[in-house]
Amino acid sequence: MPTVTMTVNGTQRTGTVEGRTLLAEFLREHLGLTGTHVGCDTSQCGACVVHVDGSSVKSCTCLAVQADGAEITTIEGLANGADLHPMQEAFRDHHGLQCGFCTPGMVMSAIDLANRSPDPSEHEVREWLEGNLCRCTGYHNIVKAVQAGARAMGGGS
Ligand code: FES
Ligand code: FES
Repeated sequence: MPTVTMTVNGTQRTGTVEGRTLLAEFLREHLGLTGTHVGCDTSQCGACVVHVDGSSVKSCTCLAVQADGAEITTIEGLANGADLHPMQEAFRDHHGLQCGFCTPGMVMSAIDLANRSPDPSEHEVREWLEGNLCRCTGYHNIVKAVQAGARAMGGGS
C-alpha cells in the first residue's frame, strides 16, 4: 500500500493508505481531523473543502496519493489558539451558520475567494459558493459573513 506524506496545518504527517483512499478520508480517519465534513457521495455539497497548496479543493474529489507532498490546510488549522480566523469571526458575527455542518467547507471556500478578491460583491460571493450547499438555507447571512470576512482579511489569508 502506498505511503503518503503531506504538511497538514503546518505539521508533516505520513500515513499508509490504499490507492483509492480519498483525501477527505485520510484527513478524517487517519489523522482524526473531523472538522472536514463529508455530506454527499456526489462531489456536490462542498462540506469537505480544504486548501491544497493554497487553493480550495473538495477533498472528496481528490485521492490521498494525489495530495502526496502538498500543503494542506483544514478548518482546524485556521484559528490561532483562542483567536479565530477573521473569516470564522465574520461567520459568528453575521450568524452565517445554523447547524454548522456546511460551515467548515463554506469558510475554507470563502477564504480562497477573499484571497483572490478582497472585497467581493454579493454576486461574486453567490457565484463562488455555488459548489457549497447549506441544508439550513442560511445563504443570506452566509453571503454577508463572507463579504465581511473578506474585508477583515484585508487581502491576505
Ligand atoms: S462531501 Fe465532498 S462535495 Fe460533498
Ligand atoms: S448551517 Fe446547517 S447545513 Fe449549513
